[in-house]
Formats: sequence, C-alpha cells, structure tokens
Amino acid sequence: MQMLEQPVIVAGAFRLRPFQPSDIPAVRQASTDPYITQITTVPAQGTEAGYTAFIERQHRRVAEGSGYSFAIAETATDRAVGQIGLWLRNADHGRASIGYWIAPEHRRRGIAKHALAALGAWALEHPGIDRIELYVEPWNEGSWRAAEACGFQREGLLRSWEQVGTARRDMYMYSRLRAAPRA
Ligand SMILES: CC(C)(COP(=O)(O)OP(=O)(O)OC[C@H]1O[C@@H](n2cnc3c(N)ncnc32)[C@H](O)[C@@H]1OP(=O)(O)O)[C@@H](O)C(=O)NCCC(=O)NCCS
Repeated sequence: MQMLEQPVIVAGAFRLRPFQPSDIPAVRQASTDPYITQITTVPAQGTEAGYTAFIERQHRRVAEGSGYSFAIAETATDRAVGQIGLWLRNADHGRASIGYWIAPEHRRRGIAKHALAALGAWALEHPGIDRIELYVEPWNEGSWRAAEACGFQREGLLRSWEQVGTARRDMYMYSRLRAAPRA
C-alpha cells in the first residue's frame, strides 16, 4: 500500500489532521485517564516535554510507515479533542486496525462516532486494504457502541488477547469490510 502524505479528513463538525504543538492541552487531558495511558504512549500525568514528545512520536508514524496518527479537532476552533490512528502492521495481508481516544471532557458528544466513520471510510478507499479491525474490551461500551454505529461487526471474543496494565484482557474483535469483496 502506498500512502505518502497525511491528509486532512472531514468528520462531521470535526477534522482529522496531523498533531501540532498547540494540541498539548488535549494530550494533558488524556494523561489524566489511566486507561488511555495504559493503551497508548500518552504519559501518565506527564510534563510539557513528555506531551511534546508524544506529539513528535505521532509525526514519526507516517515517516516510519507504521500508520497515521490524527488529532481529532473541532473544525470551528481547531481545538484538539482526541486522537485516532490507522495502523498498518498487517497491511501486507490486506488488514489495518484503528485505535482512538477522546479527552475526558469532550466525551459523549458523538466525536468517536464521527472520527471512526470518517477514518474507516478513508482507509477502505485504499487499494490493498480490505478489512479494518478494532479490538475493544467488553466493558468498554462507549467504544463498541461507536464501532457498531459505524458499521463494524462484532465477530467474537478474543480470550486473554492482550496485556493491559498488569492483567491480560479479553477483547471483542470488530471488523468492517470493503463493500465489494475482491474476486
Ligand atoms: C470510548 C470512547 C472513545 C468513546 O468516545 P465518545 O466520543 O464519548 O463516544 P460517542 O459520543 O461517539 O458515543 C458512542 C456511543 O456510545 C455511547 N457511550 C459513550 N460513552 C459511553 C459509556 N461510558 N457508557 C455507555 N455508553 C457510552 C454513546 O451514547 C453513543 O451511543 P449511541 O451510538 O447509541 O448514540 C471514550 O470514552 C474514550 O476515549 N475512552 C478511553 C479510551 C478508550 O477506551 N479508547 C477505545 C479503546 S478500544
């Protein structure tokens, strides 16, 4: 798969765009959520230098070819409210995965749904990507409800799939497929 530039993607009243230094407040808010700091590289209760390093890591994803990390920003204000990433580790097999977080004070406004719908559609436009996967813990109703609202289907439970913090966790496997399967 060849994707050379990180675009800006419209997602309702939000835009998915590259991170910028002014996004530090959103990263700082995310750092107060212990679940986000367990599943991402957002530093727990970090420093300005730590938040800046997080933003620089997001820029390196495209350069390294490992995926695209977008800030989710309000179009009207350009204020960042979350993050969503498309990860390409299994792109050679036609699969990509998406992960996301919304800063605690911006939740339950439909932002995850808008961002996931937009990034899922964008990802499936790329030749060679036929399947987008999400891994969601069963307790995480906000996440799986967002997934289902965006056309992802629950395929089953992956038992003891991943270490999160100090414990191995089960994950629901969700996927969304390209509309017309390749022959
Ligand atoms: C999960 C998360 C991304 C949801 O983001 P959000 O922007 O608040 O989600 P939305 O507002 O788009 O809500 C999606 C749906 O879930 C519901 N929902 C949201 N949070 C919920 C919660 N805590 N409990 C139950 N339902 C919830 C909404 O009502 C909505 O339902 P609907 O489709 O029936 O209207 C956010 O809580 C978060 O960042 N959590 C920490 C990180 C995380 O878990 N990331 C995902 C890992 S798989």
